[in-house]
Amino acid sequence: MVSPAPAPALPGISPGLQARLDAGLAAVEALLHARVDHDDPFIAEATAHLLAAGGKRFRPLLTLLAAELGDGINDDVIAAAAGVELTHLASLYHDDVMDDADTRRGVPSANAKYDNSTAILVGDLLFGTASDIIADLGREAVKIQSQTFIRLCSGQIRDDRHCPPGQDPHEYYLGVLADKTGVLIATAARYGALLSGCSRELIATLTEYGERIGIAFQLADDLIDISSEIEVLGKAPGTDIREGKRTLPIINALASTDPADAHLQGLLQVNGPTEEQVAEMLDLVRPHTAMRRAQEETDAVAAGAKAVLAEVPDGEVKAALLHLADRVVARMA
Ligand code: IPE
Ligand code: IPE
Ligand code: MG
Ligand code: MG
Ligand code: MG
Repeated sequence: MVSPAPAPALPGISPGLQARLDAGLAAVEALLHARVDHDDPFIAEATAHLLAAGGKRFRPLLTLLAAELGDGINDDVIAAAAGVELTHLASLYHDDVMDDADTRRGVPSANAKYDNSTAILVGDLLFGTASDIIADLGREAVKIQSQTFIRLCSGQIRDDRHCPPGQDPHEYYLGVLADKTGVLIATAARYGALLSGCSRELIATLTEYGERIGIAFQLADDLIDISSEIEVLGKAPGTDIREGKRTLPIINALASTDPADAHLQGLLQVNGPTEEQVAEMLDLVRPHTAMRRAQEETDAVAAGAKAVLAEVPDGEVKAALLHLADRVVARMA
């Protein structure tokens, strides 16, 4: 028996819309569980490991909401929402290998629980399952999935490398964010609009909105990695600093010309810092203006996402999308 995922409360929406979102998310959840099942008990366990551990189901919710701007949620919308969530889930299996993470969704990550090979192969299997689902939705949907996957992987590849000499680190970072995270959230919104019969203009608007809240979502995730404690995050804080990732607060701190920042800047250049050095860097970055400026930029990106919705007809769905943009940057997990 699959328990439905509770739809996070969206203030001000009617009981009717809430009920349709709840039912839609329950249908997505049932499809996810059915599609990750496998005859081989080990494969079934390893694929269900992170699915069962939780997750916000933010991307499926966005697909369902976007569909409410068209003719509403239908079976294709449900399938697309599940395909997007499976693509996301697969990317988490791979991401934890790349980032040498040991915790995900409050449980041991797949690389920690099993090993790297298992985590990579389960991720591949889940990507395959996502493609299998999307393949039933028509040529355009498949093309979108393929192009999304190319951008997601190119973002992850570039995320694993420092900004090349001669390129602006800030610009490089935003490009990486748009690719590794923005595009899949854009696709979540795009599928909802496309498969519910929205106009081409509305599909484009929702895609642009999704890409922008996706970038804001990752900017917030990078802030949370510095500011949060493990109990809130379900994944270890400081992972980015430990791995030498140049996220926005770090880019800002490295650009400082204040001599008082020299010590922090020296620590940030250390390859493979000790746990004491990671703790010291977190202590120094948390109250730094570099952090506040990064938060301001994150808020500005979310405001830009909301501005994209100006042409969308007023109503409870638009209000919910505006609320989601705020929630993305206010989130603590
Ligand atoms: C985590 O995504 C990976 C990023 C893109 C930052 P989520 O924060 O949506 O993870 P879950 O699905 O809720 O676990
Ligand atoms: C991952 O970014 C983005 C993906 C495309 C999976 P992060 O590496 O920051 O995600 P978390 O913090 O591990 O969830
Ligand atoms: Mg990671
Ligand atoms: Mg990563
Ligand atoms: Mg992160």
